[in-house]
Amino acid sequence: LNYLTPKTQQEILDYLITGLKRLEYRGYDSAGVGVDGCGTNADIALIRQQGPVDLLKEKIESMRESLEFDLVRDVHVGIAHTRWATHGVPSEVNSHPQTSDDTNKFIVVHNGIITNHDAIKTFLKTKGYKFISETDTEVIAKLIHHVHEQNPNVNFRELVEKAIRQLEGAFACCFKSKVFPGECVAARRGSPLLVAIKSQFELNADYVPVQYSAEDPNQNLKLHSHGHGAESPVVQRKKPTAFRVDSGKGSTSEISPCNPGDPVEYFFSSDASAVVERTNRVIYLEDDDVAAVKKGVLSIHRISRTLDDESNENVRREILKLTTEIQEIMKGSYSSFMQKEIFEQPESVVNTMRGRIDQKTKVVTLGGIKDFIPEISRCRRLMLLGCGTSYHSALASRQLLEELTELPVMVELASDFLDRYTPIFRDDVCFFISQSGETADTLNALRYCKKRGALIVGVTNTVGSSISRETHCGIHINAGPEIGVASTKAYTSQILSLAMFGLVMARDRISAQKRCTEIINELGRLPELIKKVLEQDQKILEIAKKLYEKRSLLIMGRGYNFATCLEGALKVKELTYMHSEGIQSGELKHGPLALVDSTVPIVMIITKDQVYEKCLNALAQVIARGGNPVLICQEGDKDILERAKDDMFIEVPASVDALQSILTVIPFQLLSYHLAVLRGCNVDCPRNLAKSVTVE
Ligand code: G6P
Repeated sequence: LNYLTPKTQQEILDYLITGLKRLEYRGYDSAGVGVDGCGTNADIALIRQQGPVDLLKEKIESMRESLEFDLVRDVHVGIAHTRWATHGVPSEVNSHPQTSDDTNKFIVVHNGIITNHDAIKTFLKTKGYKFISETDTEVIAKLIHHVHEQNPNVNFRELVEKAIRQLEGAFACCFKSKVFPGECVAARRGSPLLVAIKSQFELNADYVPVQYSAEDPNQNLKLHSHGHGAESPVVQRKKPTAFRVDSGKGSTSEISPCNPGDPVEYFFSSDASAVVERTNRVIYLEDDDVAAVKKGVLSIHRISRTLDDESNENVRREILKLTTEIQEIMKGSYSSFMQKEIFEQPESVVNTMRGRIDQKTKVVTLGGIKDFIPEISRCRRLMLLGCGTSYHSALASRQLLEELTELPVMVELASDFLDRYTPIFRDDVCFFISQSGETADTLNALRYCKKRGALIVGVTNTVGSSISRETHCGIHINAGPEIGVASTKAYTSQILSLAMFGLVMARDRISAQKRCTEIINELGRLPELIKKVLEQDQKILEIAKKLYEKRSLLIMGRGYNFATCLEGALKVKELTYMHSEGIQSGELKHGPLALVDSTVPIVMIITKDQVYEKCLNALAQVIARGGNPVLICQEGDKDILERAKDDMFIEVPASVDALQSILTVIPFQLLSYHLAVLRGCNVDCPRNLAKSVTVE
């Protein structure tokens, strides 16, 4: 915040709590704030609370009543955090901010994992430091305290730089110190971090050139852990980054108001949702950036030089304009974000297709990858990588991509791909699919493939995310912000984006034209077809009422609908805590049939495609073992409807086989939503999960 126009304590707390509420979907097992304390001393007060942000808010309210705070006192900086526990159980003492000592000389909030925290802890213990939490983050707070003791005359930013040079692993950190009141320093490596800037007045530039911090001659405290796998040599692909959003001109080494004294407010945040109601101007920081705000002035330093830096004389961080509107991240009349996002799908698919499909000429254009299509056409294979729902979207798209590209298509879970040190070559094209664009496993797999020279393509929903910035090219799915932890509209838009990619690849193949035209025509009908599925909501609720007390749900299908089975089971698991399993119907006879009897709840997806007959066989096998499956079929399919008992069927409109899974997944989104509500579960924040998992 501007040093000259401070906020009151109350205002700062309101900013922090509103910001935390918006970020809560990223983690919600505990939360905390660190603000300047009461009275005239410069102590920092930590208020931390296990549980959701609302409990923290109540705690702060109660402190206000007891006047433990001087709420009208002018202050400059506060930091806050909402946690998804990695090291240490959710508890007050493990919540952030973590502190350096009893007087809170330095406090820090951290997103990520410090992998050498044991080595640092051992070192600091020899210096007399005592640790009270189980977190890896506490070592950062104590380390900067130690660095300060050793370097009492060094400024705050340089202290942070010295400290983070010792850290291994992933972090986005924000520091506050009682020694440096009114200042705030933030740094990142591996975890996302942005600076948002709010000012009604002109700034003196629209980007910040980066300054390089000098190497630290005494830097190595020998705190690094051992045992890293051998690094393979870096293969440099000389390519422009086409996926980037570039804008801006202007030059200064810092950002500040044009007229000293005009108020400027700065926010550091893991993602933009915490700040969109304050400002739409943001700078995305890169790994090893250290951003400092001092006396209302922002500067950005780097503690290392990457190959990109070496080849670029004017390394700078643009101030970008966000297009997200506050309404997009509010629930409106819906009971949960997830429900809102399910019902948004008729519009979100339109947004994914907007400007990309010409229904008159039947031409599909993807601006973010069009220059790379010749290279992709010559590649050895396509690899699709992701986690969770994004991985399922890859599975759902594989068959169509194999058909339209005539290339081998491998689909990989990012974590497993890395575990196997999978061979990757320069002529591979690797797609990284991620709603958030920040998932650590996916991002690490991206870096692994990039180092080996593959062409890196992103499919993300988040402009400015790490994945969209680190890829050579890509497709923004444009589904709009997705807040519900269980992904819904992003999934359908991911499948759609990959289908459009397939259509672009097949454009010049005469033999594929009929098929492409059929798919493009159906894409035009997609919003209407989705609306028809959503009209089944009430019927799905009735089915949910029959199932919600069961312990397990088996979901069966094959072909294009197999991905729907896995995604449906994931939705049921994460939202309802019921056991659920997606089963490929062809595998039934190889094991899962043993689970089937008259009591086990089953859903079977059977649509009129090339595996229809095989699905009917599977249905017969299930019925022969006494099973009473709920059937998902195409509208008016009499053969199926006559086999359904007690109205236990859901009809979806028929579409072309390759797009049918977009329609068959929606009943599972609605079913899992209703099951969760009936079981009393928190739909938007399922236990133990987080929306954006930025740790491995
Ligand atoms: C988390 C979320 C899932 C999501 C997965 C991948 O586990 O809870 O809903 O599918 O991460 O996220 P991404 O942002 O990479 O698509």
